[in-house]
Amino acid sequence: MRWIVLPLSLALALAGCAEAPEDREAAPDTMAAVALAAYDAAMFDTIAWDTELAALERGEVVYNYSCARCHGETGLGEVGIIRAGDTLHISSFQREDWPYTDDKAGLRQAVFVGTDEGMPHWGLEGLKPRDVDAVATYIMKVIRED
Ligand code: HEC
Repeated sequence: MRWIVLPLSLALALAGCAEAPEDREAAPDTMAAVALAAYDAAMFDTIAWDTELAALERGEVVYNYSCARCHGETGLGEVGIIRAGDTLHISSFQREDWPYTDDKAGLRQAVFVGTDEGMPHWGLEGLKPRDVDAVATYIMKVIRED
């Protein structure tokens, strides 16, 4: 009896193995891909601020608390944060060819999603859409126009 059961369970185990790689292919394979899958531009549709000043004040708090340690207080990115033994290369928010000058939606997405090169995935870190919106406004209106 045993010599029948054993090959059968082996065959079942092998069949199970054969399916696993397909499942893995369907899943996002980097944290940035996971964050991108969680991103939905509509999450910002219902956000409203009484005044732009209110958004800027909140954005300043978020920036100083969550961003300045890597990007620098004025966004120059000169801080020199070390990650896994390497100094992170962070471009200045002040540079001429900054891609988000007229693209708040793109900026919010970049903040929410992050990168696999050291920019945190803020959407996965729990930064609320309202705070992502506020910090985007702050970077566009204060950091950029300083
Ligand atoms: C742990 C360090 C770290 C923190 C904290 C951090 N960032 Fe970044 N950020 C980076 C790095 C590194 C890059 C460059 C990533 C790359 O090249 O892939 C980056 C890139 C960016 C970019 C794209 C840069 C560009 O000019 O093209 C934006 C926008 C950005 N960060 C916004 C933010 C905001 C807003 C916060 C705070 C909520 C923040 N970051 C916090 C490390 C950080």
